[in-house]
Amino acid sequence: MSDPRRWDERYSTTDLIWKSEPNQFLPPEVDGLTPGRALDLACGEGRNAVWLASRGWTVTGIDFSQVGLTKAAGLAEANDVTIEWIVEDVTAGEPTGEFDLVIVFYLQVPEPERRAAFSRAARELAPGGTLLIVGHDLLNLTEGVGGPPDAAVLYGPDDVRRDLSEAGVDDLVIERAERVNRSVDTDNGPAVAIDCLARAHRPATA
Ligand SMILES: C[S@@+](CC[C@H](N)C(=O)[O-])C[C@H]1O[C@@H](n2cnc3c(N)ncnc32)[C@H](O)[C@@H]1O
Repeated sequence: MSDPRRWDERYSTTDLIWKSEPNQFLPPEVDGLTPGRALDLACGEGRNAVWLASRGWTVTGIDFSQVGLTKAAGLAEANDVTIEWIVEDVTAGEPTGEFDLVIVFYLQVPEPERRAAFSRAARELAPGGTLLIVGHDLLNLTEGVGGPPDAAVLYGPDDVRRDLSEAGVDDLVIERAERVNRSVDTDNGPAVAIDCLARAHRPATA
């Protein structure tokens, strides 16, 4: 869904759609990083941003859904953390290059927008900064559960590698891009969703 009004509509429920806990890949990937400035692009209802803030990160969350960000602000207040929330299109905006950690989790947009968002994510990194990207893998359509049933907004490791190598950051190091399994509870019991996880960093300057 590339229209903020449709996301506003989807978020117009009392309950959190994405729950309040962080995505299961975030804690292990962040373990070992020294908290600094973090940017959550397409942060939705804020579960990951709030978790990072509770671990000492100074967090900015960006999403184009005002309704999503209002719920995110409520989650932050409930967890007694302060986060900067910005209503903005993540495919646009001027990167600052100041963030020690940038995350883009489950952004589901067609390829041109995805490439623009990943390019921005890479250009938001400060030297020494880490980039984490997680999304529903294309394979999930046929072999996994959940996620949008639309191949146009899914991607795989090769897509992310290509997007990042053309992101406009000369010194970006792609550490890995791979398929990972995520356990989910469904009405029929536990099941497996197939995600794509990529991790990259900019080397610290000497
Ligand atoms: C599936 S949700 C994921 C939310 C969050 N990252 C998470 O993992 O809980 C996708 C989010 O992307 C946001 N989004 C989609 N396209 C966007 C764009 N061009 N600019 C900003 N946000 C966008 C939607 O508003 C929605 O909150």
